[in-house]
Formats: sequence, C-alpha cells, structure tokens
Amino acid sequence: MKKVGEGAEAKIYEIEIFGNKAILKRREEKKYRAKELDRKLRKERTKAEARTMARLSSSLKVPKIIAAGQYSIIMERLEGRLLKDADITSAQIAEAGKMLGKMHEMNIAHGDFTPANLMSCKNGLYVIDFGLSEMTNSFEERALDILLMKRSIPAALYPSFEKSYSESFNGHLTVLGRLKEIEKRGRYQIRTLG
Ligand SMILES: Nc1ncnc2c1ncn2[C@@H]1O[C@H](COP(=O)(O)OP(=O)(O)O)[C@@H](O)[C@H]1O
Ligand SMILES: [Mg+2]
Repeated sequence: MKKVGEGAEAKIYEIEIFGNKAILKRREEKKYRAKELDRKLRKERTKAEARTMARLSSSLKVPKIIAAGQYSIIMERLEGRLLKDADITSAQIAEAGKMLGKMHEMNIAHGDFTPANLMSCKNGLYVIDFGLSEMTNSFEERALDILLMKRSIPAALYPSFEKSYSESFNGHLTVLGRLKEIEKRGRYQIRTLG
C-alpha cells in the first residue's frame, strides 16, 4: 500500500482492487483532540464525504465510491493534476464555477472549494475532498464557498468564475449579495480555518 498524500485531515493510499488502482482515504486519529470529539469529527466528516459524493455522482464529475467505512472511503483513483499545481486557465475556472453552481443548486455547500480540491483530468475537471460539505439552504455557506475560491485564485480569473457560477445557479443574486455583505463586514470565519 503506497501512501500518495497526506492532507490536513486524512491519509491517502494507493491500493489495488482486482487489478485496478483505487484510493483509500483514511481519517487517522488526531492525538491533540480529546478522544471522543476526535472520533465524532472523523466519523461525521467521513459520512458527509461519502454521502455528498454519492449524491453528486450522477450530476458532477467526482470520484466514484467503491466502499465506505466509519473512518475510511475507498474510491476511484483519478489520474490528473491538482489545479493548485498548474497555471489555471480561464476555461478551467469557468468549469469550476459551473460545478459550484450545480452543487449549490442541489443544496450542497462544499466547505473547502479551492484549487487544491479540484483535479484536472483527461476528461475534464473533478471535484474532490467533501469532508466539510453540508446539505444546506444557507446563503451564507454558499457565499463562503465563493469567497474561499475568490481568495485562492488570481483576481483576473474571478469574473469568469462568477459568471459561470451565476449561469448554473438560479439563486446566484442572493448569494452574490451575501458575499458583498460578508466582504464589507471585513471579518469572516471560513469553516476550514476554524
Ligand atoms: N480520488 C483520488 N484520485 C487521485 N488522487 C486523489 C484522490 N483523492 C485524493 N487524492 C490526492 O490526495 C490529496 C488529499 O486528498 P483530499 O481528499 O483533498 O484530503 P484532505 O482532506 O487531506 O485535503 C489530494 O490533494 C490529491 O492529491
Ligand atoms: Mg484536500
């Protein structure tokens, strides 16, 4: 079993299932957290991730789930490159905007929507890392998804992100209004930083 990545939250291993490559994402114990809280968070995030991936599987490019346990998910291995490691093109950022719009249309907020969680593959862009995702109607949560991306990409790319987002989500005016408010407030908390 080869370890291929370690994010803030989980360890990622490359495994083989009947000769096909797959990815095992496992949320390991975090010693600095109280044991009970740690178990609860790891379970909640694994469940949220598996659920959201299953919900999106027919509408959006996400890795296919092969199996899920309390702390682990086995999923399709993508061959590609993270957007954060490439020069992002405006076509890619437009695609990212469209995908976020679709998610929001389905009442799903991603929670960590950045170029580190988008993978450019041969057949297009994939979204990964749904551990902080939520089923929600909240315009605040949706606006925070946009804000995080806005702060993670060059300013010149943002307009095309916003445009394609708006084209794919009917509630875009309310979200963009909320985004302005949050930016004006000046102080905001993003879930991933909290
Ligand atoms: N399905 C996948 N196929 C290929 N690589 C993956 C896949 N899922 C995750 N990875 C790799 O593992 C890294 C961490 O995975 P991610 O789900 O983003 O976890 P974390 O919550 O730790 O950020 C990603 O940046 C990516 O490089
Ligand atoms: Mg990640």
